[in-house]
Amino acid sequence: MTHTLLRGRLLSFLRAPQDLGDTRSYLYESDGGLLIKDGLIIACGAYDKVSAQAPADARSVDHRPHLIMPGFIDMHLHFPQMQVIASYAANLLEWLNTYTFPEECRFVESDHAQRIAGHFYDELVRHGTTTAVAYCSVHKTSADAFFAEALKRNMRMVGGKVMMDRNAPQGLLDTPQMGYDETRQIISEWHGKGRNHVAITPRFAITSTPAQMEATQALAREFPDLHIQTHLSENHDEITFTCELYPEAIDYTDIYARYGLLGDKTLFGHCIHLSDREADAMSEAGSVAVHCPTSNLFLGSGIFPLKSLARRQKPVRIGVATDIGGGSSYSMLRTMDEAYKIQQLLGERLNPLESYYCMTLGNARSLSLADRIGTLDVGSDADIVVLNAAATPAMALKMEVVKTLPEELFLLQTMGDDRAIVETYVAGVAAKSAI
Ligand code: GUN
Ligand code: ZN
Repeated sequence: MTHTLLRGRLLSFLRAPQDLGDTRSYLYESDGGLLIKDGLIIACGAYDKVSAQAPADARSVDHRPHLIMPGFIDMHLHFPQMQVIASYAANLLEWLNTYTFPEECRFVESDHAQRIAGHFYDELVRHGTTTAVAYCSVHKTSADAFFAEALKRNMRMVGGKVMMDRNAPQGLLDTPQMGYDETRQIISEWHGKGRNHVAITPRFAITSTPAQMEATQALAREFPDLHIQTHLSENHDEITFTCELYPEAIDYTDIYARYGLLGDKTLFGHCIHLSDREADAMSEAGSVAVHCPTSNLFLGSGIFPLKSLARRQKPVRIGVATDIGGGSSYSMLRTMDEAYKIQQLLGERLNPLESYYCMTLGNARSLSLADRIGTLDVGSDADIVVLNAAATPAMALKMEVVKTLPEELFLLQTMGDDRAIVETYVAGVAAKSAI
């Protein structure tokens, strides 16, 4: 395979930025080069140095003056909810019962699942997202469509068949045995195939009986390296109902803990209303709280205390995500704009360096995948996004007065969306322009 040489301004984080002046937390090359071979980054740095290593037949793409970054990572979204997005509901439980559950029933049909999978990856790539952690529907057909399409596009994806055996329409229920068997089948058919990762996915405690939670625990024991994803503490009515269903647990988090599901590969969507005890338990286990700002505002679920959870004496690991279709945008830029506004309401500052760290290396670390994605480090997968902060007339006008990198990043986050994504490279291949 031939080499690809990209030229542009490079930005890649080395660690979490402490403040806006923390220039040592990232690598920035104003005239940078990235050399790619066989889907991997093999050189990164000043253009002159990197281009000197490129063979004469390398394919060269000049992205100046744009910004080249690691592709965005979306830590939580629902593949079968592309036609649920923008549904008018008063709150989470009404939204689930009225729109979401009926829509997910359609994914029993593999034609439908395959068609939506095509749109799903198109939309991710259009928005600069190169890795996502997704819930499929309860049907194995949906997981098959999800992973087959990821394999075809050579994308690094995490996903799982949802397990749910109560409190939903009949067409959306499995049983403890079916959930266990089908998840095992999906692991053996898809995990490690191409760049696919299978996650054990009990939807949430409301839709799983204790018997299904036991089956989930058995899977977690058998496959300790796999991610586990579920929902936790999103909405007050949800929390009350959940605790009624599991009266022996001391709180919502304790339900998952009792079934051995609190660990450092567990990704809990939302975690808006955690008590101190629950946050301590999450911290001790190394579990991740995944913030979904557009969804939390759209469904009126609440205000996630990102900064205070991250700076507690027992800090909680954080991820950021769109939560399509409760979320209202596929864009991680729009997502971090809303995350910023939520922290503003709390009197907290989420600076633009932190935002871009979260979308890239931060999420990669929270997924325990930072050795593969989230940076432009040599040896990493060549999953890359190219950003234009002057993508629209209004952005271009503002760019005239932008003087610093953090100002440019903040403009991109505040006004940017898919129009600001010039190109998305998946394993070194230009994927956005190919849509
Ligand atoms: N809790 C259980 N299922 C879901 C879902 O599909 N979306 C959101 N936002 N919360 C959930
Ligand atoms: Zn969700």
